[in-house]
Amino acid sequence: MASQQKDVGILAIDIYFPPTCVQQEELEAHDGASKGKYTIGLGQDCMAFCTELEDVISMSLTAVTSLLEKYGIDPTQIGRLEVGSETVIDKSKSIKTFLMQIFEEYGNTDIEGVDSTNACYGGTAALFNCVNWVESSSWDGRYGLVVCTDSAVYAEGPARPTGGAAAIAMLIGPNAPITFESKCRASHMSHAYDFYKPNLASEYPVVDGKLSQTCYLMALDSCYRRFCDRFEKLGGKPFSMSDADYFLFHSPYNKLVQKSFARLYFNDFLRNASSIEEVAKEKLAPFSALSGDESYQSRDLEKVSQQLAKHLYDTKVQSTTLLPKQVGNMYTASLYAAFASLIHNQHSSLVDKRVIMFSYGSGLTATMFSLQFRGGQHPFTLSNIATVMNVSEKLKSRLEVSPEKFVETLKLMEHRYGSKDFVTTKDTSLLSPGTFYLTEVDSMYRRYYAKKAANGTTGSGNIAACKNGSLGNGH
Ligand code: ACO
Repeated sequence: MASQQKDVGILAIDIYFPPTCVQQEELEAHDGASKGKYTIGLGQDCMAFCTELEDVISMSLTAVTSLLEKYGIDPTQIGRLEVGSETVIDKSKSIKTFLMQIFEEYGNTDIEGVDSTNACYGGTAALFNCVNWVESSSWDGRYGLVVCTDSAVYAEGPARPTGGAAAIAMLIGPNAPITFESKCRASHMSHAYDFYKPNLASEYPVVDGKLSQTCYLMALDSCYRRFCDRFEKLGGKPFSMSDADYFLFHSPYNKLVQKSFARLYFNDFLRNASSIEEVAKEKLAPFSALSGDESYQSRDLEKVSQQLAKHLYDTKVQSTTLLPKQVGNMYTASLYAAFASLIHNQHSSLVDKRVIMFSYGSGLTATMFSLQFRGGQHPFTLSNIATVMNVSEKLKSRLEVSPEKFVETLKLMEHRYGSKDFVTTKDTSLLSPGTFYLTEVDSMYRRYYAKKAANGTTGSGNIAACKNGSLGNGH
């Protein structure tokens, strides 16, 4: 049975990010950073953040119910649910079990899968688990569902502008409009202390920012080389950047994406790819003898390769950067938000195109893999995915708050992290109908959520995951 499922991949996607955001230009001035540091230096426009009403559980409840409703999926048709997240709310109980409230309502408790955690990589692990399940002999004919959900917040300091928040839900099955070239995958995993969360009393990570940048680029090089070798073995011809239409990267901030793409260009030069023009070869030749370490530190190499790759960046990367620049680092959801941006921007011209995805999680784990777009059948088409995600409207309807308000919110969240016995304001005026929100954490740390009803009133409180709204067809 293992090889019977054809074109296994992503059938449907929905994305949710909080309606509250802070402009990077304002944050930069507020933090006393030099003008342009966050917007040009990091390449970021805006950053979403959760208020006391939202967290990774509420965001994923919203994303999952929205996906089921908008694509008309019967909740009993889900056979596996995998969550990727690095935002710790409970050290034992998985986020997946909170999401089970949606399915229990419909009598479906027969759903495999739990949470996967390793920094920003957990979503990719969850995705691979679901795809592997559908391709395997254990598959029972139902859909897989993947959720990537994170709230990225940092302590005061240089890392703070690289936060963000979102949840993305992806439906997995055969005959998909987005398929995996499963044999073309390459990973690089090793031990590093670049970004980690050893302090369980705080939501904030410990970050060695400079090391994390080098680890990321080193993992990228290693994955790309392996990926090229694998492609060559399977395809019988060399692989270079010219063999893919789009390149998508885990995006902590846009400047690193620009550097990463330039790094692939330098790799193609080192591999003597025929697609690199003579004039570019001449400009890169002085750097060919640098050791790996030297090359990560060379500002000249960075500058020259970015200039040479710029025209390719504009066609192969630019349209993937909208959400990462507007929402910020969404940790596990970051790469898939880049993917959502590409579908949003290019859905009518993607059929038969190939995209290369680079997933990175500090600590560290990284994989490069390849996807292809196909036609699909309603409701699982690229144009319908773009319609359902409704990215422009979601971005347009956000409320930009002042840096002072943002800092005040983070202070409240610091105080609330890991605490019990509190209720939230329940002021849902900024939330769209259908959005879940936290109402209370009781004396036994149990969390309660409600759903803002379609008429704009609040739901009936407590878990109420789906009691206040229909979940689509079939019921
Ligand atoms: N105008 C334009 N550019 C400026 C300005 C200015 N006024 N001021 C500084 N810059 C540039 C710098 O030159 C630098 O660009 P470069 O890298 O091309 O040289 C950039 O802005 C950042 O400034 P730095 O001083 O180098 O870095 P900073 O100390 O502010 O920290 C960092 C940046 C390390 C990314 C920090 O925000 C951080 O630790 N973030 C979290 C870790 C992270 O995201 N790591 C990435 C991979 S791991 C992960 O995904 C979590």
